[in-house]
Amino acid sequence: MTENSGTRNNGDHTPGTDGEFAGKTVLITGGTSGMGLATARRLLASGAEVVITGRSEERLRRAETALGAGDRVLAVRADSAAPADLARLADRVGERHGRLDGVFANAGVGVFELPAEVTEKSFDHTVDVNFKGVFFTVQHALPLLEAAGGGSVVLNASWTLHRGLPNAPVYAATKAAVHNLARTLGSDFAGRGIRVNSVSPGYIVTEMFEEVITEQSERDAVLAQVPLGRLGEAGDIAETVAFLLSARSSYITGQDFVVDGGVVAVAGGW
Ligand SMILES: NC(=O)c1ccc[n+]([C@@H]2O[C@H](COP(=O)([O-])OP(=O)(O)OC[C@H]3O[C@@H](n4cnc5c(N)ncnc54)[C@H](OP(=O)(O)O)[C@@H]3O)[C@@H](O)[C@H]2O)c1
Repeated sequence: MTENSGTRNNGDHTPGTDGEFAGKTVLITGGTSGMGLATARRLLASGAEVVITGRSEERLRRAETALGAGDRVLAVRADSAAPADLARLADRVGERHGRLDGVFANAGVGVFELPAEVTEKSFDHTVDVNFKGVFFTVQHALPLLEAAGGGSVVLNASWTLHRGLPNAPVYAATKAAVHNLARTLGSDFAGRGIRVNSVSPGYIVTEMFEEVITEQSERDAVLAQVPLGRLGEAGDIAETVAFLLSARSSYITGQDFVVDGGVVAVAGGW
């Protein structure tokens, strides 16, 4: 199967130049590359101020430069696996902005291991970043969302929560847990005007994807599973996240949005 260019959205020419997010501040964990960086770019184009995180100062500086939005970007080093870092992050955001209108809990690791190869250490690492990190990101952001009088939270899950993924038992399970959090927190926070949803990306070409899919034959095999005939781009997810963070989705909470070109809609989605 050859790749069909179809309608593309790489985040570079997005429809977000309307000021929809003017005066809004959004926290994006894992904003140094991939979907987090594309979402930052998308929201900045619509007037937002963004806070991005990552583990490395060097990658954070590079992302700031790539975004080119000056002091509308605050880049904070914070390891999502460490709740103390997430508490410090919330303090920094509180000092700078005093509020948050949106959160994209996006930071995650893709760990592929045969079930027999999973160690307690690798299990804990995957869970600590992908699940514990998402929970404590939201917990620490809650007072700032309340300070804004309500807001929207989007959790980055995965299409794998709908299927299971060979050789990634812990990864896939963390993503199911992430979506379940959206359901429960969406209900818990509804009375405070805070919506919580998850997004489930399909095969999106990012650093994580390219670390896992290294051979052209693997890429072709993955592409063959996508009814829309192309692999996803980070901008495809950024556009959906922008929708979920915006007032355009004001009656939606506790849901999962699969953005995968149709992969999970058909039998044998992997
Ligand atoms: N790509 C796909 O096909 C796909 C499909 C479904 C779901 N997802 C999910 O999408 C999310 C984003 O991944 P991506 O594909 O955009 O990959 P990516 O380009 O590799 O981005 C991952 C981001 O997460 C950050 N990160 C990783 N571990 C972190 C930690 N412990 N603390 C703070 N930040 C951390 C990275 O920052 P630093 O490295 O700079 O620290 C980077 O900014 C992940 O949750 C992933 O599971 C991806």
